[in-house]
Amino acid sequence: MVKVGIIGAGFMGKMHSSVYQALPGAKLVAVADLEAKKAKEILPEGKIYTRMEDLLKDPQVDLVDVCLPTFLHKEAVIKSTRAGKHVLCEKPIALSVEDAEEMIKEVEKARVKFMVAHCIRLWPEYMVLKEIVEKGEMGKVVHATFRRLSPLPDWSWDGWLMDPAKSGGALFDLHIHDVDFSLYLLGKPAYIYSQGFRNQAGCSHVFSLFSYREGTVAHLEGGWDYPASFPFTHSYLVKMEKGILAFNPHYPQSLLLYQGEEVESPEIKKVEVSVGAGGNIEDLGGYYNEIAYFVKCIEEDRFPEIITPQDARDSLYLVSKEKESMEKGTKVKV
Ligand SMILES: NC(=O)c1ccc[n+]([C@@H]2O[C@H](COP(=O)([O-])OP(=O)(O)OC[C@H]3O[C@@H](n4cnc5c(N)ncnc54)[C@H](O)[C@@H]3O)[C@@H](O)[C@H]2O)c1
Repeated sequence: MVKVGIIGAGFMGKMHSSVYQALPGAKLVAVADLEAKKAKEILPEGKIYTRMEDLLKDPQVDLVDVCLPTFLHKEAVIKSTRAGKHVLCEKPIALSVEDAEEMIKEVEKARVKFMVAHCIRLWPEYMVLKEIVEKGEMGKVVHATFRRLSPLPDWSWDGWLMDPAKSGGALFDLHIHDVDFSLYLLGKPAYIYSQGFRNQAGCSHVFSLFSYREGTVAHLEGGWDYPASFPFTHSYLVKMEKGILAFNPHYPQSLLLYQGEEVESPEIKKVEVSVGAGGNIEDLGGYYNEIAYFVKCIEEDRFPEIITPQDARDSLYLVSKEKESMEKGTKVKV
């Protein structure tokens, strides 16, 4: 049984705690949050701390799950690894590539297991796409569009999400999901060209073109400047040599494969988990899958391969290149 301590009992801390309730093989034993009341809400019977340092001293905790605002990830991950704990950290790993590299060095020194929660790699509909492309039966990817659109997430503690120095704005917080998935599916692009919109909270909407050496093009769009009535939407359209796979959760049939005259619905392997954490995300199976995968890696004493620390660093690097392209107004080499 892997014993877990969550640091940060906000939106994601709540979501992760619900996953642990449903997950055999893991038990949530402690929660740390500045506000003890919030920690108690997600763990009514267990150890509650108001300082992360106290949770890290708890010998019962094997795995620390960092659900803190992004600007606190570096401190929490380094302190956790120095305490000899395995660490799951919410995405993005950090706000700068330098910080990410420093964190990875510490993790390697400590020889603990470390994974950044890039949940889209384990989101059921995105797993289907990865599997189809890997099988190769539909040929190579020719071009692809990935979208992530949301109303302004205004629930954050102390308004940290609305402060670009703390969250990186929509570019680093929201859009990185698709950047990370494109890295997983297509590798690193050769060039990036991005244009964006800004508001008081930094980059609020980005449009990017990723050009790959083999001629593949990906269009990635992400923004949180939509009205509150607009439903959170992540979607993709991927044209392969022999067909198109299209995903949109709001269509009557959310996932369809178009090939010549034929249209089929590929099987989506969903895990039925009811976590009731609220928020703007309907499908929670991806969170379950990622945590179940990491817990299994710890149980089997192997380092995660689906999301490596280097992957998390590389996704952040690609987002920083998008920012550079936006600022320069030109295409940038990766
Ligand atoms: N994977 C996803 O789909 C997804 C979705 C939302 C958020 N996130 C990520 O999860 C992380 C957390 O975001 P959130 O929306 O849960 O934030 P939040 O504002 O809802 O919660 C943050 C919590 O941290 C606590 N906190 C702040 N400083 C602390 C400290 N020093 N010690 C202990 N507790 C402290 C706050 O009291 C609050 O409860 C961010 O990195 C965010 O990017 C990921």
